[in-house]
Amino acid sequence: MRMYDVITAKKRGNELTDEQIAFVVKGFTAGEIPDYQMSALLMAICLKGLNMRETTTLTMEMARSGDMLDLSAIHGKKADKHSTGGVGDKTTLIVAPIVASLGVPVAKMSGRGLGHTGGTIDKLESIPGFRTTIPADEFIRSVNDMKLAVAGQSANLAPADKKMYALRDVTATVDNISLIASSIMSKKLASGADVIVLDVKTGSGAFMKTFDDSAELAKAMVTIGNNCGRKTYAVITDMNQVLGRYVGNWLEVREAIEVLRGEGDEELRLVSYTLASYMLLGCGIAGSIDEAKRMIEETVASGTAFEKFREFVARQGGDVSFIDNPEKMRSAKLETPVYASRGGWISEINAEEVGMASLLLGGGREKKDDTIDPIVGICVDKKVGDRVFAGERLGVLYANDQESVIAAGKRFQAAYKYSETPVPPVAPIYGYVDENGVHRV
Ligand code: URA
Repeated sequence: MRMYDVITAKKRGNELTDEQIAFVVKGFTAGEIPDYQMSALLMAICLKGLNMRETTTLTMEMARSGDMLDLSAIHGKKADKHSTGGVGDKTTLIVAPIVASLGVPVAKMSGRGLGHTGGTIDKLESIPGFRTTIPADEFIRSVNDMKLAVAGQSANLAPADKKMYALRDVTATVDNISLIASSIMSKKLASGADVIVLDVKTGSGAFMKTFDDSAELAKAMVTIGNNCGRKTYAVITDMNQVLGRYVGNWLEVREAIEVLRGEGDEELRLVSYTLASYMLLGCGIAGSIDEAKRMIEETVASGTAFEKFREFVARQGGDVSFIDNPEKMRSAKLETPVYASRGGWISEINAEEVGMASLLLGGGREKKDDTIDPIVGICVDKKVGDRVFAGERLGVLYANDQESVIAAGKRFQAAYKYSETPVPPVAPIYGYVDENGVHRV
């Protein structure tokens, strides 16, 4: 087989065979297919598309290109969740202990943040002492003993995707639904869970800016998951503003603790409970979404979910006194309010810009090796639908130096768009996707 012929076939809009796709993924991972040929094929895929059979095969081949985590030593159906990337998205910290407290094993591999989006591993590492690098046997033992472990992604999880993504990033071939779906799902399949719940974000701070695009991506991922024998659901959620009230690693852990204690932001609670409900449904712990929601309300109200989070933090070496008393954490040197530049009803808060403002404060990474400051970040007081007057406080920046405050303050202020007339608040959930298709709510 020759790569030249595979490129030609796709350029002409022909379907690739399973053998051709396997040849490409294996050859590219092994370094036998050069970047220039792979780039040509990726561009042909962007222009001519892949059908669901080709997309599923590509996903499976990428998943098999490295380690496939063997979770068979863990008892029961394992559930995983994945977000396509949001700002202020701390739902894993809430959802994982909730479902674990209800008996669902969660063996989660998570990533670090890059650009405007945060990563669960960075958030967890803001807890003093917390370890995210744990040996495989300890990881499995923790899940069997207490139903929950979270570790940093292994370097050898879907290496084909890692190489392909690096190339897509510089050849303008990221924004293709089949390529995004196979990239995300290859890592999920390699991570070994039986049930996968995807949080597909839509809006200004997301990859997908419209409901229709998000629904198409969600449908592709749900189909791939189900085709590969994993019970898969997607929930389509809003990213036209920050999720919850806080952006920044430790600030987000603190906000997650509030929700686990039955307090905190209502929209964050709704998104978290919905994702958790689908995990319970997929694992057969609940017979319906309504039943799942009742179980979740109970486990939070009784303090069982919060206790599970404490147990998890302690097990991975974290100092639980910070979980019991979050105010014990050192404060940022500067707490600077940011005021509205004009009056009106808030119509949009560009989440990507808020994420970039937090990055400027030192809370995120521009490049993979940048170090981050866990305590800096932003509190968002005003959200879409709120009425504000010129000079009213929009939020607070937590920072360690004045220079970053000035740059981040400008960016945060500019993220807000205003309307002269009342604007309804944004509903945080737009729809869901199961094996029967897309459902708008
Ligand atoms: N996230 C991924 O992991 N892959 C993509 O292609 C896009 C977003």
